[in-house]
Amino acid sequence: MATILLIHGPNLNRLGKRDAAQYGTKTLADIEALVAAEAQRIGHTVKAFQSNHEGALIDFLQAEATDAAGIIANLGAFTHYSYALHDALVDTDLPCVEVHLSDINSREDWRKISVTAPACIAMIAGKKEAGYVEAVATLQAHLTK
Ligand code: DQA
Repeated sequence: MATILLIHGPNLNRLGKRDAAQYGTKTLADIEALVAAEAQRIGHTVKAFQSNHEGALIDFLQAEATDAAGIIANLGAFTHYSYALHDALVDTDLPCVEVHLSDINSREDWRKISVTAPACIAMIAGKKEAGYVEAVATLQAHLTK
């Protein structure tokens, strides 16, 4: 049984109240439960964490990576400019799948850039919560521990 880290960045604690056309209607708790159920179905557990603070996300990755096998990350707006989170993901040496609820490629130009995606094995965007189900399956194929 492997542990999958599920991390969410800024403003994602507001899911359910944010723009439903972009982000859907599910709350963060709904999404965490969905990922936990999907992971459990294939024999894995999930450790979930959300923060509005870049350093707290980095601290979580540094503290938890050793005992984990993979990462699913929606880093919110940090996606577009946090080289520190890029480096923290690389440093974990774990496979990571980046997820975005909205289609970042069809929105503002600044949203089309992900500086964290190069640290990930895949990026899934624009599928709302279904993207997380796909992320579990994608990650599963890359788990080595
Ligand atoms: C998001 C897309 C980001 O551009 C935005 O800042 C978010 C959510 C998404 O899930 O679509 O907060 O990561």
